[in-house]
Amino acid sequence: MKFFVDTADVAEIRSLIGTGFMDGVTTNPSLIAKSGRKMSEVIAEICALTEGPVSAEVTATDHETMLKEGRYLRGIAKNVAVKVPLTEAGLRTCKVLSDEGTPVNVTLCFSANQALLAAKAGAAFISPFVGRLDDIGQDGMGLIADVVQIYKNYSFRTEVLVASIRHPIHVLQSAKLGAHVGTMPPAVIRSLLKHPLTDRGLEAFLADWAKTGQSIL
Ligand code: E4P
Repeated sequence: MKFFVDTADVAEIRSLIGTGFMDGVTTNPSLIAKSGRKMSEVIAEICALTEGPVSAEVTATDHETMLKEGRYLRGIAKNVAVKVPLTEAGLRTCKVLSDEGTPVNVTLCFSANQALLAAKAGAAFISPFVGRLDDIGQDGMGLIADVVQIYKNYSFRTEVLVASIRHPIHVLQSAKLGAHVGTMPPAVIRSLLKHPLTDRGLEAFLADWAKTGQSIL
C-alpha cells in the first residue's frame, strides 16, 4: 500500500522525505489556502522534493476552464497529478487529460457508482473520502470495500486512493481491503509508528545496556 501525505506544508513534507513511508503528496484548495502561499510555487516546491505523484486540484467548475487549469498545473512539473472534482465537467476533463497522458485524481467521491464513472473516464486515482462519510453517520470503509471489489470485477487500472483518513484504524482497514493508496495528514502517518510496548521495551533495553558500561562504537 502506498502512503501519500495530505498537506501543502513544505516543511512537513521535507521532514518525511527519506523515511521510506512517503510515496506521494495530495493537496486541495483548502490546504493551499492554509499554507498562505501561491499555489504554483508550493506545488513546484513539493514536486522538487518527491518523485511521487503530487496532486494539484483545479478550481474551475466548467470543463473548458478546468482543462486549461489542468494543463497549466501539469506544466509545473512532470509528477503533477491533476485533481478534478467528481462532477460531469470533472469527468469530461478527466477523460481528455488522461487521453493526453496526464494522471488524474478524481476527488470528492462519496459513492461506488461515482467511482465506477471515474474509472470509465480513465482516472489514475479515485479518492473516496472515508472520514467525511463517517462524519455524517455513513460507512466510509464500506465504500472502500465496494470500490475495491468493483474495480477488481472489471480489472480497472484506476487506483483506490483512500482520502479523508482521520486515524490509524482507517489505515489498517484500507490495507486489509487491498486499497492501493492512503492519503493522510502527517500526524496520522507518524501515529502509525507508535506503540507503548515499543517505548517501554526500548527504555528497558537502554537501561540494561547502560549497566554494562559498554559502547558499540
Ligand atoms: C484528499 O485528497 C483530501 O485532500 C483530503 O483527504 C480531505 O481530507 P479531510 O476530509 O480531512 O479534509
